Amino acid sequence: MEDLMKLKGKNIVVMGVANERSLAWGVAKSLYKVGANPIFTYRLDRSFAKLNKLLKEEQTASSPLIVQCDVNDDESIKNAFHEIHEKVGTIHGVVHSVAFANSEDLKGDFINTSRSGYAFAQDTSAYSLIAVAREAKPFMTEGGSIVTMSYLGAERAVPGYNVMGVAKAALESSVKYLAMDLGEANIRINAISAGAIRTLAAKGVGSFNEILHKIEETSPLKRNVTQEEVGDMTVAFLSHLSRGVTGEVVYVDSGYNIIG
Ligand SMILES: NC(=O)c1ccc[n+]([C@@H]2O[C@H](COP(=O)([O-])OP(=O)(O)OC[C@H]3O[C@@H](n4cnc5c(N)ncnc54)[C@H](O)[C@@H]3O)[C@@H](O)[C@H]2O)c1
Repeated sequence: MEDLMKLKGKNIVVMGVANERSLAWGVAKSLYKVGANPIFTYRLDRSFAKLNKLLKEEQTASSPLIVQCDVNDDESIKNAFHEIHEKVGTIHGVVHSVAFANSEDLKGDFINTSRSGYAFAQDTSAYSLIAVAREAKPFMTEGGSIVTMSYLGAERAVPGYNVMGVAKAALESSVKYLAMDLGEANIRINAISAGAIRTLAAKGVGSFNEILHKIEETSPLKRNVTQEEVGDMTVAFLSHLSRGVTGEVVYVDSGYNIIG
């Protein structure tokens, strides 16, 4: 299977590990299983410390490159990808697992979203993918794959998801436009629409517990999904197995999105 995936030794940038629950950490664990070479970016010092601890526990063969990157800052993104290229050479894949909105914009009525809160959620959670793709592209000279994380709130009005739902709608649309631009360079880009998983980011969504219960009760698989399942699907998107797929949103949500 490893051979079919063609990910052995491939340099995959993983953005967004905050702790052991992060979807990005699920991706990293799956990448290690197929022999890839993850490179990590983090924003806060506390994530850097957490990441080092996790990597020690994972007992990886070699210590991976870890680079600071704040996706609200163009210079920071540019510097991060230059540093990654200088240290590891060609980049074969990028996992964008980053989002943020002010907590006051995830409470109460959507109609009260502030102008600045709207812009901030879009900047961090949707525009960041465009900026990341632009800075990564020059170093993805052998083609490759970019994966981002979305949620059903992009297309349905999920109570409590509010401004983040609109940001995810922009993110999913950006995936399609980016797929058009990146295709010529044989770079694919897709989104995974993940089911609800208890992480730090999920804590900001007030209705989260209700969402978890609803999925358990009504989804075709009658259960919630795991970080490992999202990690494995992400690796499938990064691998040779998905070489004919770009611009797509695929649901890893126990089938919840299909029900009427
Ligand atoms: N947990 C879920 O239920 C769920 C479901 C669907 C989609 N998602 C998406 O998955 C992605 C990862 O979230 P998660 O649930 O693993 O939570 P998480 O809190 O573990 O990860 C979010 C990451 O975003 C990073 N981040 C925020 N602002 C940043 C900035 N300016 N620069 C760089 N990094 C920044 C944080 O440091 C953190 O590592 C997000 O896009 C989220 O919307 C999560």
